[in-house]
Amino acid sequence: MTTDRLMALDLLVAVLTAAAWTGAGAAAAARRPRVAAALLAAAIVLSAARAGSVIALAGAGWWFVQEKVVFGLPLLVAGTLVAGVLAAPRLLAAVRGGAAEAAGAPAVVVPLLGTGYAAAAGPVQTFLLGYPATWSTGLVLTAVVAGAVLVTWRAVSGRVPGLRTASAAVALAGVAGVVLGVLPLGGGAAAVSGHDPGDPGDTGGMSGMSGMSGMSAMGDMSAMGHARHQDRMRSVTELRGPDTPDQGGAVRRFTLTARTATVTLSSGRRVSAWTFDGRVPGPPITAVQGDLVEVRLRNADISAGVTLHWHGYDVPSGEDGVPGLTQEAVMPGQEFVYRFRAEQAGTFWYHTHEVSDLGVRMGLYGTLVVTPRAAAPAGLDLTLPVHTFAGATVAGDHDRPIEQTVAAGTAVRLRLIDTDNDPHRFTLAGTPYRLVAVDGADLHEPGVLTRSALRLAAGGRYDLAFTMPAGGSVVLRVDDRTVALTLSSGAAATGQSPGADGASWPELDLTRYGTPAPTPFTARTPADRRFTLVLDRGLSLAGGRPLYAYTVNGDAFPDIPPQTVAEGDLVRFTVVNRGSDTHPWHLHGHRVLVLSRNGRAPTGSPLWLDTFDVRPGEVWEVAFRADNPGLWMNHCHNLGHADQGMVLHLAYEGVGTPFHGAHGG
Ligand code: C2O
Ligand code: CU
Repeated sequence: MTTDRLMALDLLVAVLTAAAWTGAGAAAAARRPRVAAALLAAAIVLSAARAGSVIALAGAGWWFVQEKVVFGLPLLVAGTLVAGVLAAPRLLAAVRGGAAEAAGAPAVVVPLLGTGYAAAAGPVQTFLLGYPATWSTGLVLTAVVAGAVLVTWRAVSGRVPGLRTASAAVALAGVAGVVLGVLPLGGGAAAVSGHDPGDPGDTGGMSGMSGMSGMSAMGDMSAMGHARHQDRMRSVTELRGPDTPDQGGAVRRFTLTARTATVTLSSGRRVSAWTFDGRVPGPPITAVQGDLVEVRLRNADISAGVTLHWHGYDVPSGEDGVPGLTQEAVMPGQEFVYRFRAEQAGTFWYHTHEVSDLGVRMGLYGTLVVTPRAAAPAGLDLTLPVHTFAGATVAGDHDRPIEQTVAAGTAVRLRLIDTDNDPHRFTLAGTPYRLVAVDGADLHEPGVLTRSALRLAAGGRYDLAFTMPAGGSVVLRVDDRTVALTLSSGAAATGQSPGADGASWPELDLTRYGTPAPTPFTARTPADRRFTLVLDRGLSLAGGRPLYAYTVNGDAFPDIPPQTVAEGDLVRFTVVNRGSDTHPWHLHGHRVLVLSRNGRAPTGSPLWLDTFDVRPGEVWEVAFRADNPGLWMNHCHNLGHADQGMVLHLAYEGVGTPFHGAHGG
């Protein structure tokens, strides 16, 4: 069974267990001994099943069961034992003796209901607080369960020996838990039990970074005085791009003006958007490898402010366009000039990084395509950023299929970009093709594909290549419903469908596509730094706003400790998705090599990605060389999730920022 199914099953069993115990207690209180006994039997069986489902889930990794093993199960087992000793014999006697009144005794009702509360505390912990369980949250929840038991006892018997003392003790435990959780250096920050036990060198999680929580420490360069390279402390604002191209390269100058506008889509439909130069997407930026790209960003009237981030392009940190970290947001009337050399060839995109969830959704994005200097692309080269505007799937600015006539034999390259917050499923019908590049990196010996579906992560890019066939048409569909593009070779009538609609086609597994090739490091190369990122949801007060946040290791931005690396380090990330949402993980300034997904190493082409989709229950291992000094965002590219906390920073030692803004993105 897959991990996400196991997680769902475990949750179902947990809920049924709590319901059975509570139901048994309620039936006993209602003097229905037979019903109560039947429910008690079910509760005991379900409790055992719960232990089994947790053990099965543990096989996927400690991260998936930590709070269940250290908190939920012990509480459930304790309740089951107490109920078994106190309630079960009395209830059975009541059934046998036909003494309905006896079933309502406090010694029967209170343990049954109490175990129901204890059984419910587990899923409540999982849902509200997530990973990892801490002493603080454990104490608070235990106090809540104990308090509920006392209230029940009082209600059932009217006279509880030592009630005052017990209530005071419970309240004290609850307060202690809250205090532990609130104190910045208290035990609340420490997980009940260490993170991945197989990862002794792990510097992620909670340990070792308590002195540097959040951006406040990073925002103040003097606060990093204890950094090793104090004498060589650099500001991220010094890490700017060169102002000349490579030899033989050209200078490409662009000016983009951000402004609100009403945009007309290809169907004639008008949408009000936030735009660059009044267009959606913004003007395409193209260059040849080795060129110098210079983009002057002006803000006319986007009152939220705007920046340009070069998604997937490993520019110097000072050009990365992250407000509050590498620059201030560009406000109306202001401008900022970005410069970088076009060193990577491939398909990329740019977008605002200020209130990016809203800004990108409203249209502040465009494409960045760099072609190799050696081989100028021949034939048809189409860049198709796919975006959702008011419920419609739009490719470029087309909300109706793009129809084009292409001579048979023409080399065609389609550059697909997912600029949305969710993955898209693409199918190409009517021709065999190859998926030649992912996230701007060429694949090694990609095989021919037919009747395959390509799932593209939010923020990710796929380059498809084929030779235009004679006769018939080639159709690109998005999410099995929207036809985005129809290419016809002269003779055939446009709109002639190649038949299959692709809905049943299996999804291509990228980790098995293409053939292996040497990489500068492998899973066996010892890493200098290891970090584990456990993605989940939980209540948070980070940044002072109460939120059911998207969390990393139990924290939300700006409270997630930054990951510190030194230039030259080989850095390894383990990314674990404990939740039920997909998280397209995106590190700025570097592309990562996939080492494994769910414990299995790729058997196909090496995969160098800047955005990888971590689906529910998945565990990814990736690595990269820290060769681009600066301060970098490391976040979920579902920008709504990022806005709700799923953002942290990767900081190189010896680099600071003068900006104090705690913008999540
Ligand atoms: Cu495409 Cu931090 O973003
Ligand atoms: Cu996410």
